Amino acid sequence: MKKVLITGAAGYIGSHAVVDFHNAGYEVIGVDNYLNSEEGTYKRIAQITGKEIAHHNIDLRDKKAVFSLFKSEKDIDAVVHFAALKSVPDSVDNPIFCFDNNNNSTLNLADACSQFGVKHFIFSSSCSVYGNVTADQLPVTEETQLKRPESPYGYTKQNGEEMLHYFSDVKDVKIMALRYFNPVGAHPSGEIGELPAKRVNNLVPVITQSAAGVIDAFTVFGSDWKTRDGSCIRDYIHVSDIASAHTLAYEFLKKQDDEKFFDVINLGSGEGVSVFEAIKAFERATGVRAPYKVGDRRDGDVESIYSNPQKAKEVLGWEPKFDIEDMMASAWKWQQKLKELGMAVHKL
Ligand code: NAD
Ligand code: WQD
Repeated sequence: MKKVLITGAAGYIGSHAVVDFHNAGYEVIGVDNYLNSEEGTYKRIAQITGKEIAHHNIDLRDKKAVFSLFKSEKDIDAVVHFAALKSVPDSVDNPIFCFDNNNNSTLNLADACSQFGVKHFIFSSSCSVYGNVTADQLPVTEETQLKRPESPYGYTKQNGEEMLHYFSDVKDVKIMALRYFNPVGAHPSGEIGELPAKRVNNLVPVITQSAAGVIDAFTVFGSDWKTRDGSCIRDYIHVSDIASAHTLAYEFLKKQDDEKFFDVINLGSGEGVSVFEAIKAFERATGVRAPYKVGDRRDGDVESIYSNPQKAKEVLGWEPKFDIEDMMASAWKWQQKLKELGMAVHKL
């Protein structure tokens, strides 16, 4: 059986990808150092898959440890690389840590692939590579001009793509960078989802936390944007749909005759949803009110961004299965699970 190494496997998107690759019949090996996750995630994954996957506690910045993993786990056919620090404000506060972690993890894995003959590599990229897009650039296609990202975090994604592109010019490896828009929601089983971060900044977690009473109310960042209801517009996409695109990307890469390959694909729903519309979708899907107040704009926010998902459909045969209400209902189910796990209060 082909072995697929998933980095960041205990994390939010990685754990959903573990489930998807397992269900597609691959032998999955997980790697994580639990910087933003916990080992217990593997037990909850096993509740879904019926099998606990092999996993290793490795800091991917440690090149020796990465090489010895590739040496001991023979026959790795693909690396699906999720591991990274993803907090935008943390990256602004400590850019060096973010650069060191994200870029060196990617470099060490690429190096190990070339040393150990691993032929397929899938990289977690982000819509943040497009920077501050203007209204005339919407919806964003893969051809949209990349701008200077708004944060050090975004830079590590742009830089990661470029490093891997140069690498694939000279090494026999087929690489796909997938640019996610706004992944939200949780596995429909309610067993896995996004763990509360030190600073919870993202919209859907603050909606579910306010609805659950973990926080009193959240702030809608601005109602004076030039959009249909004054709030910002984003392209929310269910995390299980994001996960399944990786399995399809691997199938696609395996079929490419050329030994060297590099491409990028957007993963979004193609639909722009405003903050107020997202709140209404949550309330419709759950019947629960999410208290909020309207406040000032947040620094660095883009007014509107959403994808053109056509390339993912044409190249990968990928289309999202879940709509915005499914995203909200599953996020709410996960919020209940967090309470059961004693993790309802974020770790500030
Ligand atoms: P996450 O923080 O839940 O998962 C990342 C995992 O990587 C964590 O479990 C963390 O412990 C691990 N990790 C970090 N540095 C590591 C290291 N040096 N060695 C080993 N493990 C390490 O984040 P996520 O939301 O699952 O994001 C997965 C990927 O998708 C990231 O690359 C992120 O940048 C990208 N992405 C996420 C979003 C989003 O909104 N969640 C959007 C676009 C792109
Ligand atoms: C969504 C909308 C906020 C919180 C981030 C990263 C990006 C990518 C995806 C990794 C915005 C509004 C939010 C709140 C609010 N991640 N909001 N009140 O900023 O689009 O993207 O995640 O690659 O790089 O920057 O996501 O969920 O923070 O915000 O009104 O308390 O919700 O203004 O319009 P964002 P988000």
